[in-house]
Amino acid sequence: MRRPIVAGNWKMHGTRASIAALLDTLKKNLCDNIDAVVLPPYVYLQQVAEALDHSHISWGAQNICAQVEGAFTGEISADMLQQFNCRYVLVGHSERRTLYQEDDQLIAKKFNLANRAGLTPILCVGETLRQREQQLTFDIIEQQLQLVLSQAPNVSALANAIIAYEPVWAIGTGKTASSEQAQEVHAMIRQFIATINQAVANNIRIIYGGSVKASNAQQLFAMPDIDGGLIGGASLIAEEFIAICQAASDAF
Ligand code: PGA
Repeated sequence: MRRPIVAGNWKMHGTRASIAALLDTLKKNLCDNIDAVVLPPYVYLQQVAEALDHSHISWGAQNICAQVEGAFTGEISADMLQQFNCRYVLVGHSERRTLYQEDDQLIAKKFNLANRAGLTPILCVGETLRQREQQLTFDIIEQQLQLVLSQAPNVSALANAIIAYEPVWAIGTGKTASSEQAQEVHAMIRQFIATINQAVANNIRIIYGGSVKASNAQQLFAMPDIDGGLIGGASLIAEEFIAICQAASDAF
């Protein structure tokens, strides 16, 4: 039985005051039988870590540097995050791939550094609309997984990871993949991982992201290979995020 996980990717949003209010409401209302995670911008990590201390909500970062340490102005390392009790980190988010030209090679480095520091990487994969229309969805996802997973040092590094399927055309657009479309890709991802290790494939959590809202979460989470969600816009609205977490809890 895979424990559901719902992670809120706040992207570059929020103020100290709005975050304090959001966390206060989440702490009072989120169920504790799923893994609920928030991913704030770096500057708020300390505030979030303090607010969530002794709560059942975990937190993570949206990015890490692909280097251990050194002269990399503006960057933050996995080891630095680890000192603050950070649990998770996004790697390969499509906004990083497209806006900051991150390729699979760089993403593989970040994936391994996260693991090395004891963080759980949430590896994001997904196709563009054009790739879907050209029937390239499976090829693209396989390619994105192949390079990163083949460079992981061992099976436990894979077992520790979470995969997020986020079709690029569904991110922030209000267009969600249908639960059938999402399930098809999740099943393909699990099959692909089974070619590396069957036990890891059975246990790894594969979550869906792309315009998940309270109104569509239930249908998505009802699918056998969808183990939770990566939530952008709706994670900034307390009632929406609480309802999405509740839908994950109800589905499992
Ligand atoms: P969205 O973002 O829920 O706003 O579509 C998801 C994501 O980018 O992780």
